[in-house]
Amino acid sequence: MSELAAVILAAGQGTRLKSDLPKVLHPVGGIPMVAWSIQNAQALGAAPIVLVVGYKAEAVRQAMGDQVLYAYQEKQLGTGHAVLQARPLLEGQARDVLVLYGDMPTLTAETLQRLVALHREKRPAMTMLSVLSEDSMGFGRVVRGADGRVCAIIEEAVASPEILAIRELNCGVYCFDADWLWRRLPDIPITPPKGEYYLTDMVGLAVAEGARVEVLTTHDVSEVQGINTRLHLAQAERILRRRINERWMLEGVTLVDPDTTYIEAAVQIGRETVIYPNTFLQGRTMIGERAVIGPNTLIRDSRIGNGCRVLMSVVEEAVMEEGANIGPFGHLRKGAHLGEGVHMGNFGEVKDSYLGPGTKMGHFSYIGDSYVGRDVNIGAGTVTCNYDGQRKHRTVIGDRAFIGSGTMLVAPVTVGEGARIGAGAVVTRDVPAGALVYGVPARRHDTPKAQAESGGEDAQPKSP
Ligand code: UD1
Ligand code: CA
Repeated sequence: MSELAAVILAAGQGTRLKSDLPKVLHPVGGIPMVAWSIQNAQALGAAPIVLVVGYKAEAVRQAMGDQVLYAYQEKQLGTGHAVLQARPLLEGQARDVLVLYGDMPTLTAETLQRLVALHREKRPAMTMLSVLSEDSMGFGRVVRGADGRVCAIIEEAVASPEILAIRELNCGVYCFDADWLWRRLPDIPITPPKGEYYLTDMVGLAVAEGARVEVLTTHDVSEVQGINTRLHLAQAERILRRRINERWMLEGVTLVDPDTTYIEAAVQIGRETVIYPNTFLQGRTMIGERAVIGPNTLIRDSRIGNGCRVLMSVVEEAVMEEGANIGPFGHLRKGAHLGEGVHMGNFGEVKDSYLGPGTKMGHFSYIGDSYVGRDVNIGAGTVTCNYDGQRKHRTVIGDRAFIGSGTMLVAPVTVGEGARIGAGAVVTRDVPAGALVYGVPARRHDTPKAQAESGGEDAQPKSP
């Protein structure tokens, strides 16, 4: 038996998002909003963690995988009914049960920690989180008796004017004594007209039997925003972005303008790195130390080494080793791998290719499905013609080769080590190591013998 288990309520459709995607899968800060709740439960050491799913349950299950258990709520008959669906998975599993929503991504683990700590200190039947706010946000009101203790939660829809005036609101987050929860949960009365079971009625049940209810009160409204509309989504995004950015700045990363720097939750950044405005770091991106990123840059699911420079570029599923630099206006696509110190200048594109250490491609080049050795010079406008209309083919370029400007490398083709290709060549056959070729199609021009060997009509002297 563990100290704490968690139930995350996520069966709702989220009608007001007007979306085919279930509400809790809408991304905030780069991850599905329910992932924030799961991470919070994990941070508190909760086990097991049960996600109550309903609307598009299979999609939610697919997205979140086996890091949590799932309870299925066929009809959304209220928050109390939702928790009841998790009972078979949780009864006898833990001393306390934390209840969270899957649509409250800005709630912090620190606040939950305080809630659980208060619960463990006082050992009431339940401990709830309330917030003091001028804006009621449609939340239930926390009603306190003459002694100051909580006696009920009343939903806004059924509240009298006096109750509506109460500024202490129920956040919907609770820590229950497990034995008490499972014993009394079935006693929640049914609320007409929709026949719902309100978890908030647990407060009334506790008070009626003389059990205690403790309250942790917060003033920070930004932590308890439930997401119902795309407006809320943008607000939560802003809150999480600010938090993520503050964390990286305190870790030693310079954000020149945090308001226009968009770093998703799972991104890692080394110290002394500088990030210029309008930069998006997404997915599982890892950036080393002393890198300079941006402005106007998007990096997704990529590994950027120490001291790299990425200027006004797009980098997706790519790797840049230490000291490599690209831009302005470079594009690294899936499988691009730039070795140490590679320089890739304006308007370059690399896909599914490795470029060895020290290789330079300064201007307007496309390298796809290629292996390029070290210290190769790729002249302006060089293109690997990797697609014949049906299939992709590979290009291999040896160490220290010199590829003249405007070269077309018609794949499959291999250029040997130290070979030189004159400007404007269309290379349709392999080029031996050290050879000099140029022309359309490219032929050898280094020695007469080599020319003869390079095949066919080349061997015949031509009349002018
Ligand atoms: C609930 C509280 C209210 C509180 C507010 C805070 C009740 C009766 N009311 O109201 O006091 O101020 O949260 O946000 O609990 N869910 C299910 N199955 C259901 C119903 C809901 O999984 O049958 C999930 C929803 O997907 C959502 C969460 O529970 O994630 C809260 O449900 P919601 O309908 O938004 O509750 P509120 O009416 O806002
Ligand atoms: Ca709500």
